Amino acid sequence: MHKIKTQFEKDVIKGLTDYPKHLPSKYIYDERGDKLFQEIMAMPEYYLTDCEFEILSQKKSQICETFFDSDGFDLIELGAGDGKKTKILLKQLAEKKYDFKYLPVDISKSVLEELKSTLHIEIPEVKVELQQGTYFDILADLDKYRNRKKVILFLGSNIGNLLHENVIKFLKQIQENMQKNDILFMGFDQKKQPQTILDAYNDKTKITESFNKNLLRRINNDFEANFDLDEFIHWETYNPETGTALSFLVSKKDQNVKIEKLNLDVHFKAWESLHVEISQKYDDEVIRWIADKADLEIVDFFSDEKDNYRNYIFRSK
Ligand code: AVJ
Repeated sequence: MHKIKTQFEKDVIKGLTDYPKHLPSKYIYDERGDKLFQEIMAMPEYYLTDCEFEILSQKKSQICETFFDSDGFDLIELGAGDGKKTKILLKQLAEKKYDFKYLPVDISKSVLEELKSTLHIEIPEVKVELQQGTYFDILADLDKYRNRKKVILFLGSNIGNLLHENVIKFLKQIQENMQKNDILFMGFDQKKQPQTILDAYNDKTKITESFNKNLLRRINNDFEANFDLDEFIHWETYNPETGTALSFLVSKKDQNVKIEKLNLDVHFKAWESLHVEISQKYDDEVIRWIADKADLEIVDFFSDEKDNYRNYIFRSK
């Protein structure tokens, strides 16, 4: 019997039969993965969340002024999550009595429902319309919002999971759906002391290790596989020249893994690597280059005290 394969199935087969082996990090995020990522954001080592929180708290009035339009605006957030940081801006916008609608986009329906109910309690005056889907579903839909100004939010340096060429493609797609007045507000983690970066992805409490290994656990669950999570180590690298942090799982021994539902046997040599995530760090030159390639213009940026993290405002050229 032939069954049409899902993208997840195709990506697993492709990544585990390739050399060197790799899997896309987006599949880490099932229910357990979402929970582990929440735990990561609360870790002291994971400075990204605190930095962006600081920027939004300190600069909220300047930031929200750039959102304003006398005809009102639609605030579309890609990958909204629990909205902890966004709520700082939403509170400010509500206080200013700006006319806007908040459209949080997330792949997870339960995350969205939770966000809506907390918003209803904390800032009941905000009009919310949930958008369940992938970034790509939503990009295709962006065109619908052309009656008034669009403000697109993309926080958390989530963009860092993409290689530069894919960042450019992604931003170009957004840009193509942006009108003159629209803005894109995005977080980019900056290059910094390499040890700080390594520590953020290599916490002693091993939450990041469990997070990355959740990909194997998910394959075990979804595809009846028998990955032994203890037979892989979590290995993080950071290259200060390229600004690229990479997460690997490394096989401790020569071993075979059976993935029943995919009818696949995977062999790992001792110390063979499996690449699971990229977390890109940026500098000014790279951001200017990316923006230029995507036909975006940098209007302004906001940074934390230590300049560890920046939020940029872009407009279409
Ligand atoms: C959600 C992509 C921003 O790369 O920093 C955190 C994911 N992985 N710790 C990041 C992540 C390990 C995170 N992003």
